[in-house]
Amino acid sequence: MARVAVVTGASSGIGAVTARRLARDGWDLVLVARRRDRLDDLAAAIGGATVVAADLTDEDAPALVRAALTERHGGRLDLLVNNAGARFPGTFADTGVDGLRQHLDVNLFAVAALTHALLPLLRAQHGSVVTVASVSSFISRAGTAGYSSAKAAVRAFSDALALEEQAIHVGLVVPGFIATEGFPQTQLVDNPRTRWAVSTPEAVAEAVLQAGPGRQDQVHVPRAWAIATAARAIAPSVVPKVARLLGAQTTPDTRSVETRRLAD
Ligand SMILES: NC(=O)c1ccc[n+]([C@@H]2O[C@H](COP(=O)([O-])OP(=O)(O)OC[C@H]3O[C@@H](n4cnc5c(N)ncnc54)[C@H](OP(=O)(O)O)[C@@H]3O)[C@@H](O)[C@H]2O)c1
Repeated sequence: MARVAVVTGASSGIGAVTARRLARDGWDLVLVARRRDRLDDLAAAIGGATVVAADLTDEDAPALVRAALTERHGGRLDLLVNNAGARFPGTFADTGVDGLRQHLDVNLFAVAALTHALLPLLRAQHGSVVTVASVSSFISRAGTAGYSSAKAAVRAFSDALALEEQAIHVGLVVPGFIATEGFPQTQLVDNPRTRWAVSTPEAVAEAVLQAGPGRQDQVHVPRAWAIATAARAIAPSVVPKVARLLGAQTTPDTRSVETRRLAD
């Protein structure tokens, strides 16, 4: 019987590439995101998958995913990839606490709610949960107060879960800057001084494999970003200097998939 994985945020970017990679390795997949058409197309392209079109910030979303696993896969779950996430534009002065809540809803609470609902299935299978955090959880750039707060929180959540759960493996993937639909990284790509910092969704998919089935605890993409973790402890004054070099996160680059869809 094939191993079963849930991949959230599979309608684009890192999630879609990760789903394709897992399918190639023979996994059965449950694909989760809001855009059903994208998930249906991906399911067809990889030779079949279970599709759950849901907003993960909705209270009933975790139950929908669990019901799909029960109905389609007899309740089997070997790997949960908590990849869905979003960044919304605006400085803290502009958005206030509402901006932080919006980020925490999708990047922390939705992750925690789904993980909680699926823990019994993961335990039964001695499976893995992999959460996609961000280097923003270590280095906050201007314009990322909500996003960086939420990613730091989800990293801390994952660390604690790893200590609490004996029957499952808990892994964390820490991408740097990855050119995707939702995070085009235009500013960094356009600047020759920062272009080196941008990596690919394929590299993150590989890291998910290492942190999930490979059972590594924490994988940075690219690996050199592990220095950000060390820098906070060893040379904290370097961190804001790097953040300034990377520049402020400005509005055009922060338009989330949702924001763009609403604007179209
Ligand atoms: N790209 C980077 O530079 C980078 C760096 C570090 C970390 N990350 C993290 O990597 C993950 C994937 O990002 P990406 O770069 O692949 O961006 P992306 O192309 O925008 O993909 C984000 C995915 O999350 C889904 N999603 C967003 N809000 C959702 C919600 N409320 N309910 C369900 N699904 C939702 C989107 O699908 P729908 O719109 O169809 O719902 C989409 O499939 C995110 O957690 C992001 O924070 C990205």
